Amino acid sequence: MSGQIDLSVSGGVAQLRLNRPDKLNALDRDMVAKLAGRLAEIEHDPAVHVVILSGEGKAFCAGGDIEAWASESPDSFGRHWLRDGHAAFDALARLRQPVIAVLDGHALGGGLELAACADIRVAEEQIKIGQPETGLGIIPGWSGTQRAVRRFGAQIVRRMVIAGEVFTASEALGHGIVDRVVETGGGMAAAEEIAAGILRRGPRATELAKMMINAAEGEERERVTEALAGALAAHSPELAEGLAAFRERRTPNFLGETDT
Ligand code: COA
Repeated sequence: MSGQIDLSVSGGVAQLRLNRPDKLNALDRDMVAKLAGRLAEIEHDPAVHVVILSGEGKAFCAGGDIEAWASESPDSFGRHWLRDGHAAFDALARLRQPVIAVLDGHALGGGLELAACADIRVAEEQIKIGQPETGLGIIPGWSGTQRAVRRFGAQIVRRMVIAGEVFTASEALGHGIVDRVVETGGGMAAAEEIAAGILRRGPRATELAKMMINAAEGEERERVTEALAGALAAHSPELAEGLAAFRERRTPNFLGETDT
């Protein structure tokens, strides 16, 4: 049976939780679609300023649903499994609000690719991190060879993807894959503490800073530059004059007295 993506919002924080504990929160197509839906809700919710992403049960996420691959044709695997996954993961990485991932259990394969979309990763000390896909005869297809390289560095991704190394939380900290390691059961409290710190900062400035960092990293350069330039243009007197001229069926006077 497929699972749910739970969402609750309180005090400026959205709690987004993978909820399929009997399958270690493995993501099938249905879960990916639900994730995309939840992210669209969060993106447009003015009450959300920080997102905490976690997993129900003993795993954060054990990756893509390996069993579900059997029913995918090569065409549907490429067209839907991979492309839909990319769209959802991109939406997470490009969410306007900062995202903190709580790795309160193993993050493997698609689970690590999902965590890689977060801005900050907190790991509990008992967890394992890795990209086991090549051992299954497949590649990490939800950006584990792309975004992961940008965010973690190519060499450490080689060690996980090509050599199949699986890291402990403290090793992952040393390799820059996670940002903080806490004791078992302490992940959510640590994430809430980080979230509280973010909430004390200017939400608009934080949002803009995240966009700029993403753009510098190559995450969404085109969208960020257009969004920022578009927002500036939208607040200029030129747009007001352009709209007024359109409504009044006249030629706009952009060089009139309002021009500065
Ligand atoms: N896809 C589908 N089902 C998965 C899964 C995955 N990626 N990972 C775990 N599950 C299922 C198991 O089949 C099992 O289901 P069952 O109880 O119906 O048999 C259930 O989740 C519990 O997993 P189990 O293996 O019994 O737990 P464990 O604690 O012994 O082992 C792992 C945990 C994470 C080491 C092991 O589940 C594993 O190696 N999973 C695959 C990880 C992986 O290769 N991910 C890459 C895919 S992108």
